[in-house]
Amino acid sequence: MSLAGKKIILGVSGSIAAYKAALIVRGLVKAGAEVKVLMTRAATDFISPLTLATLSKNDVTTSVHDGESWNNHVELGLWADAMLISPATATTLGKMASAICDNAIVAVYLSARCPVFFAPAMDLDMWAHPATQRNVELLKAYGNHLIDVGDGELASGLSGAGRLAEPEDILQILSDHFADPGAAAGADGRVGAQEIGKGLSVNAEPAPQTDQLPQDLAGKRILITAGPTYEDLDPVRYLGNRSTGRMGIALADAATQRGARVDLVLGPTTLSATEEGVNVIPVRTAREMHAASVALWHKADAAVLAAAVADYRPRSTATQKIKKKDGPLRLELVRNPDIAAELGEDKKAHQRLVGFALETDNGIENARRKLSSKHLDFIVLNSPSEEGTGFGHTTNRVQFVTKEDVQDFELKPKTEVATDILNALVELL
Ligand code: C5P
Repeated sequence: MSLAGKKIILGVSGSIAAYKAALIVRGLVKAGAEVKVLMTRAATDFISPLTLATLSKNDVTTSVHDGESWNNHVELGLWADAMLISPATATTLGKMASAICDNAIVAVYLSARCPVFFAPAMDLDMWAHPATQRNVELLKAYGNHLIDVGDGELASGLSGAGRLAEPEDILQILSDHFADPGAAAGADGRVGAQEIGKGLSVNAEPAPQTDQLPQDLAGKRILITAGPTYEDLDPVRYLGNRSTGRMGIALADAATQRGARVDLVLGPTTLSATEEGVNVIPVRTAREMHAASVALWHKADAAVLAAAVADYRPRSTATQKIKKKDGPLRLELVRNPDIAAELGEDKKAHQRLVGFALETDNGIENARRKLSSKHLDFIVLNSPSEEGTGFGHTTNRVQFVTKEDVQDFELKPKTEVATDILNALVELL
């Protein structure tokens, strides 16, 4: 075990599997790690703080303040070499995904700069619920490592996916992380407890095709947004656009083939990336795309924003299907966040940002305005009026617009446009 001298925070939330925290603490301490335990109030119903304090040889924190003094969550977050949340209940996953900071675990999680591992445990239907899965995807997109659930008998008497990973597998995953910090998680931030001991990780990046393409993006992490966003009016209707995501998906595949680690934040589409190593974060609305992109940007060397993000969303989404009435229906729309502008605002000196623009008039002039207002390095400009270009087509004819010049390309497949864009990006990186 490579855990000797490591400082580990263990967050325990309220599931029947909380009793396994005792085994995890004992295993960590035995391996030479220093352990500090945080518990939610609900967790204390399943296992006593005294047990975990005794095993960890440290006080257990059960709230951000105890009425008299304040527990410094920032200090704890900075102290740790790794944070493990085990078991992570559906509630805790939801709070972590949404920064609902009403307990010590979420407070420390939000302050932590170390790698965070989370091991969910819940009943099979709770685990399969789209809300839970969405939170898991968000947490993975934020760079946290999922320790996948096991399959088998559950506390409810049912059987299926949702069991907490076995404590020895969790310990092995942490140990593997410290032995080789890059190896504990696959490209999608998931570590599969079931794969321990086989020397495999789930969804590992495919071997780079060094004989086919230059590995000129090796070691680079690239964020790509693609596809449309859907803004819901009611449970069955939405405002959307005709983007298929084809251009962004071609970019994600090509960048992966050239050695990059790619995070693809993808709006609703029937198309999907073909390269296995692409970390796809499926989103629906502009606000979801915004949250995932902002969370990933600080880890990225570059972002290519190919998504057709809705500029507006309905002020409110009706919970019931809107009934038709006589006369017109008025919709009030409010502005969505501008992801490109926000990433540009926050851009560090080493980062590169590429945007797309579709202009019906004064293309180059408008593109240049966007270039400077969104702090982009270049804009891929396409014209909607030409045959074979734009949404839904497999080909495109683009111009690259920088502050200084304009480069024209001929009509070609989007896969080749992707190559041209990445060639230009490699020059800038
Ligand atoms: O301002 P406009 O929508 O023409 O800008 C297009 C560029 O900005 C594209 O790269 C698009 O992906 C990005 N964008 C964004 N968030 C928005 C609107 C556009 O990232 N809300």
